[in-house]
Amino acid sequence: MEDKFLLVANWKANDPKIDLCSLQSTDEIEIAVAAPYPLITTISDGISRAAQDVSAFPVGAYTGEVPATLLANLGVKYCLVGHSERRRYLAETNSTVEAKIETAIKAGIVPIICAQTLEEVPPNVRNFSAEKYLIMYEPAKAISTDGQYHSENPQKVAEMISDWQKKLPNGVRLLYGGSVNPQDVTAYVELGQSLVSGLVVGHASLETELFKTIVTACLHSLNSHLA
Ligand code: PGA
Repeated sequence: MEDKFLLVANWKANDPKIDLCSLQSTDEIEIAVAAPYPLITTISDGISRAAQDVSAFPVGAYTGEVPATLLANLGVKYCLVGHSERRRYLAETNSTVEAKIETAIKAGIVPIICAQTLEEVPPNVRNFSAEKYLIMYEPAKAISTDGQYHSENPQKVAEMISDWQKKLPNGVRLLYGGSVNPQDVTAYVELGQSLVSGLVVGHASLETELFKTIVTACLHSLNSHLA
């Protein structure tokens, strides 16, 4: 059976007053929320818990770090790793990303490796079977700024992802992120789950009604594909 379509809300460093109880994963869509650490336990049942980062270090004397095992104890299923904002503002490097992937997988968390280019996907992913991790293709220029969307052409996304699939290990699932909003979400879903296994939504996940519109559009489009 094909995996569910994965819709990840990336709240970034926001504290949105979202009515999570009105959102639920369904048979077709798994909804995950990547919340700032202090908000992770507010993610209610029916939505998967995700973190926006994970420490490259194990449990121990690493002040300020949050190790994978502590996240796993909170029921965290996914964590973003190597988001372009962390690479840009926090000088995160490929070798840190590589270490984070390893600690997440060992703790049973599925890292969502964020990359703009294939060079940002560390070679150690080849040490793990394809179902242990996900890759999000997100060109930084497509990330919304100050509430303005800068959507990438879905056809270009399809071309990039199909090129990556040829170069990555067989069976790796790819997500797309960057200005996904109610107007263009359907176009990405319609590329088909063999190309785009899910979406990461930043700005448009910060308001209940906006995000619900995205969930509904995804469901509608997935169901009409299955029909
Ligand atoms: P955006 O952010 O949807 O606001 O562009 C997505 C992301 O960077 O995860």
